[in-house]
Amino acid sequence: MTTTSDPTVRASDPDAYGYRQFSLGGFGFRRDEYFAHISWPTGSHVLSIDDFLRALQRDCAWDFFYGTVNFDDVIGTVNHYGNVDLFAGRYNDSYRKAELDHTESFPTPDIRETFREMLDDWTNMTFDPFASPAETEGPWGVKNGNNTDAVTRRRVAAERMVGVPGDEPIRTDATHPVNRMFADVAQDEPEVHTNPGFEAEVAGFSLFAYLSRSNVTWNPSVVSVCKDSLFCPTTEEYILPIIHGNDRVEWFIQLSDEIRWNVDDRDTGAQRAKVIMRAGDVAAMPADIRHQGFSTKRSMLLVWENNSPDLPALIAAGRAPQYPVDF
Ligand code: PHB
Ligand code: FE
Repeated sequence: MTTTSDPTVRASDPDAYGYRQFSLGGFGFRRDEYFAHISWPTGSHVLSIDDFLRALQRDCAWDFFYGTVNFDDVIGTVNHYGNVDLFAGRYNDSYRKAELDHTESFPTPDIRETFREMLDDWTNMTFDPFASPAETEGPWGVKNGNNTDAVTRRRVAAERMVGVPGDEPIRTDATHPVNRMFADVAQDEPEVHTNPGFEAEVAGFSLFAYLSRSNVTWNPSVVSVCKDSLFCPTTEEYILPIIHGNDRVEWFIQLSDEIRWNVDDRDTGAQRAKVIMRAGDVAAMPADIRHQGFSTKRSMLLVWENNSPDLPALIAAGRAPQYPVDF
């Protein structure tokens, strides 16, 4: 084991494939030309390296997100907002019944740094884990450079709203060309006439034009904030690289095109629903599910999050419901 820039990260020197091997508690991680290999005291698991890096990229960029980030039906993380569980088989009925599941909890900074260094070391110069498969080359083969700029992209997170002076800027041809699949999206912006003195308070922008210029997929970014209410739109193509286990209700508003969702029980993985969302459809995903979306044509989805830190405890105590609304 060599030390790295961060003393909590345990990593080897480059192995025969040119990649460093990482360990975190009892978990071991290594990659070869095609696969990520993960081991723990009671078992081991293999994922295709493209799937693994796409999932790892989201877990890093979203700082472990809300609730559970399943890389697949075996491996994943649970965010406890201060510490993070890394698990194998914990939310898989077969592993649970065979008592082969394994979970360890880490202070968030430790797992964050290990994951970030692994993502950077294992992502070759040809691969962008946030890009749609049609817009990146592959991750395959022995170590071949890095793509640090791509894997450390700044996450868009407005403090108030995109377009407000001093906040996240709107996108232009110079920084964000219109995506090939959104060539038909109108690019005109609203006219905003502000009374003197209110220039910092009044703003407007075209969300469709903004999203048509997104160069990443399956990456909700915060475009407006009202207390704990976050509008997190995203553009979707191919498959959501994680299976998200909610720890709160979230609303989906399909802004364009179509996404198919598999919705399963959060804890066992048993199937609960298939949801087909077309432009204009609105759905609420309950707090006790996991879900994964599929989108052929690049589509626009608005994810509406309640960012209150109190929600997981309120739901666990039965003081807030798992579902969004009573009719
Ligand atoms: C979700 O888990 O709700 C989610 C995550 C990423 C997306 C869309 C939805 O791009
Ligand atoms: Fe979700």
